[in-house]
Amino acid sequence: MNVRLAIWITDWFGDSADLYFETLQADVAYFTSVSRFQTLVNSCAVAFKSALQKFVESSARMAGRPSLGARIARTIAYLFQLLFCSIWKDLFHSLSWKRKCVQDQVIVITGGAMGIGKRLAEMFALEHKAKVVILDQNEAEALKTVAGIRDRGATAHSFVCDVTNPDDLRQCAAKIAENPALGKADIIICNAGISGFGLILDVSDAMLKKTLDVNVLGVFNTIRAFLGPMISRNQGHVVTIGSICGFAGDVYGSAYCSSKYAVRGIMESLENELHDRDITGVRCTTVYPYFTETAMVTYEPTSTFYNVIPLDKCIRSIVDAVLKEKRTSFIPSTFFFIFYIVKPFLSKHSFFASRKWLNFRYGPPIVKTADAVV
Ligand SMILES: NC(=O)c1ccc[n+]([C@@H]2O[C@H](COP(=O)([O-])OP(=O)(O)OC[C@H]3O[C@@H](n4cnc5c(N)ncnc54)[C@H](O)[C@@H]3O)[C@@H](O)[C@H]2O)c1
Repeated sequence: MNVRLAIWITDWFGDSADLYFETLQADVAYFTSVSRFQTLVNSCAVAFKSALQKFVESSARMAGRPSLGARIARTIAYLFQLLFCSIWKDLFHSLSWKRKCVQDQVIVITGGAMGIGKRLAEMFALEHKAKVVILDQNEAEALKTVAGIRDRGATAHSFVCDVTNPDDLRQCAAKIAENPALGKADIIICNAGISGFGLILDVSDAMLKKTLDVNVLGVFNTIRAFLGPMISRNQGHVVTIGSICGFAGDVYGSAYCSSKYAVRGIMESLENELHDRDITGVRCTTVYPYFTETAMVTYEPTSTFYNVIPLDKCIRSIVDAVLKEKRTSFIPSTFFFIFYIVKPFLSKHSFFASRKWLNFRYGPPIVKTADAVV
C-alpha cells in the first residue's frame, strides 16, 4: 500500500530531477536501508525535491544570492530535510551507537607521554588492544609510558616530536607508515597542549605565542601530517581534545581559551570540508572536557556545581566518544545544555548573572583595577 502510494506520488511529481539537494538523497538512501516504511519517505522526498528543483530552476538568480522564490524553496526543502530525514537519522544513529573495534588499529596520540594523553594511550593499548604511537617532545616520559604499556603485554611506540614543528610531524608520519609493525594511522588524537593563563596584559609575548603554537598550530600540523592518506583511502578518524574553555572565555584565559576556541573552528571547518568533498569515511570527533586532574591544572578551579574530573573518568568518556565516533562530546555531558543551548541566548546582564551563579573560575584571586598598579 505504502509502496503504491509512493510510486503514485513519484509519478505525479516526475522523477527526472538532477537533484537539487544532494545531501537529502544521501539521507534518503540511509533511511531506505532502515525500514520498509522509509520506502514511502524515500519516494516522497525524491518527488518533493524534483518539484522543488523545477520551481528553483524557473526562478532567475539575483547577484550574489538566489531569488526570493529560490530562497523560499530552499527553506522549505531544508525544513523537509530536517524534519523528515536529518533529525531521525541522528536519532537512529544515537540510539544504535555501537562502539567500534580498534583492535590492532594504529592510534597516534600527540602529547601521550603524560596526563590525559598517557592514560588514553594506556587504555587504548591495554583494554582495546590497539597499537598506540605516542608523539611527544618529552622523550623520557614517553619512553616510560611505552615501557609501562609493553610490560603489560600490549603494543606501544613513541617518537620524539614537537607538534609546533610541521617537519617533525611529517617525519613521524613517514616513520609510522614505513614501520612494518605499524603502517597507516587509523586514528589520530590531537591532544598535546599547554596552559598559558594570565591577564591579557600580563601574559608574556613568549607565553602567548607558545600557547597558540602548541594548542592551535600543533593541531593543524598533526592533522595536515596524517590526513592525506586518510583521505586517499576514505577511512580514518581525527580526534581533538578541546576544552570547555573553548566555549567560555575567562578572566585569565585570553591565551588558553582563544586557543581552544580555535580548535573548534579547525574541526568544524574540517568536518565541512570532508562532508562537501564526499569523504564520508573520515570521521571527526572533538571532546570538550572540564578541568581534569593532571599536572596541567596548577590552580584550584572553582564552580558552584562541578568538581574537577578524576582523570580515569575523563579518559573513559573520551574513549567512549572515540569508539562511538561521536561528533562532539562534553565532559560532563550537562555542559552541552549550558554552552550550546542556554549560553547563546543570554543577553549581557543575564550572562554575567549566570556566570556569577555558576562561578567557573580558574587562576589567582582577581585584583580590582582600583587596587592594581596599571
Ligand atoms: N587537564 C585539564 O584540565 C584539561 C581540560 C580540558 C582539556 N585539556 C586538554 O587536554 C590536553 C592534555 O592536557 P593534560 O592535562 O594531559 O596536560 P599535561 O601537561 O599533563 O600533558 C600534556 C602533554 O603534552 C606534551 N606536549 C606539550 N607541548 C608539546 C609539544 N610542543 N609537542 C609535543 N608534545 C607536547 C607534554 O610533554 C605532555 O606530555 C591538552 O590539549 C589540554 O588543553 C586538559
